[in-house]
Amino acid sequence: MIYDELIKPFFVLAPMDDVTDVSFRQIVASLSPPDLFFTEFVNVDGLTSQGRDRLMIKLKKGKKDRPIIAQLWGSNPDNFRQVASEIKGMGFDGIDLNMGCPDRTIVKNGCCSALINDRDLAGEIISKTIEGSNGLPVSVKTRIGFNTVDLSWFDFLMKFDLKVITIHGRTKKEMSKVPAHWDIIGEVVQMRNKQRPDILIVGNGDVENRQDGLEKVRKYGVDGIMIGRGVFKDPFVFSTSSPWNQYSPQEKIELFSSHIELFRTNWPNGERKVAQLFKFAKAYINNFDGASELRAQLMNVKTTEEALDILRGYLVA
Ligand SMILES: Cc1cc2nc3c(=O)[nH]c(=O)nc-3n(C[C@H](O)[C@H](O)[C@H](O)COP(=O)(O)O)c2cc1C
Repeated sequence: MIYDELIKPFFVLAPMDDVTDVSFRQIVASLSPPDLFFTEFVNVDGLTSQGRDRLMIKLKKGKKDRPIIAQLWGSNPDNFRQVASEIKGMGFDGIDLNMGCPDRTIVKNGCCSALINDRDLAGEIISKTIEGSNGLPVSVKTRIGFNTVDLSWFDFLMKFDLKVITIHGRTKKEMSKVPAHWDIIGEVVQMRNKQRPDILIVGNGDVENRQDGLEKVRKYGVDGIMIGRGVFKDPFVFSTSSPWNQYSPQEKIELFSSHIELFRTNWPNGERKVAQLFKFAKAYINNFDGASELRAQLMNVKTTEEALDILRGYLVA
């Protein structure tokens, strides 16, 4: 079981939809890998319908992004069981259930963070997923409450045979607008210590780098740290001493080009929109003369070839 093998405290790359696809995960893995990867969230109701092929791109993984957890979301417990039963065969190390996404449409459909207020359905989803999991560890990633902080949610989750609870330290209502409440994450750790010392707690929210993560481990007692947006500021975010500040414009552009090449190899038939790549432009192309002009040029491209040409042109000029 993967969680028995991870040395505490462990670091996790957060799932970020349309960001942490297989291409970007290979980049992070090649620079300074976390101890654990997650896929983007993938909908079980879609995976068990005619839309399956379109969604399977979310479950594509590479050679370097290991170990890796498949993250699922949806509304129908039987679909969770069905998809869970296939995950081991696909080579994943665990199954995570998204019970934190605050997206308005998703919540309206009763999924993800809406489950914080629908304990019957949340419980059924967890139970059916465990039933289907073929012994793979099952975890939940969630927030500290729906409209207000709600510790009863964690009392509830701790009744199940979950191996890990990952806590994003904000309520659903807070979206990403306020600093994460690490003190509440610390309170859940105390509850866990009393009620279910076997469950691992991963803390998440605003962690900037490894050092920051280690300080939060000491202060709040979490077993692991998950980092999401920090990777945009520094793709070496999991390293003990990042060379990113010393990277030359040329090195940054070469790294972005490798990412685009990987994207092209993984999605040769337009399975993903090229525009997705330009969410990254700011992450790679920053802090040098001409960076904003170069980013502006990239914003209008339609193909990976065009993007690579522009980047090559900049290097030659
Ligand atoms: C663009 C984007 C997409 C996200 N997609 C997912 C997702 O698919 N599944 C999930 O559990 N969380 C998702 N999240 C939330 C992150 O995993 C994480 O909980 C959040 O960004 C807070 O961590 P951070 O402050 O380290 O970024 C997403 C966040 C962002 C910014």
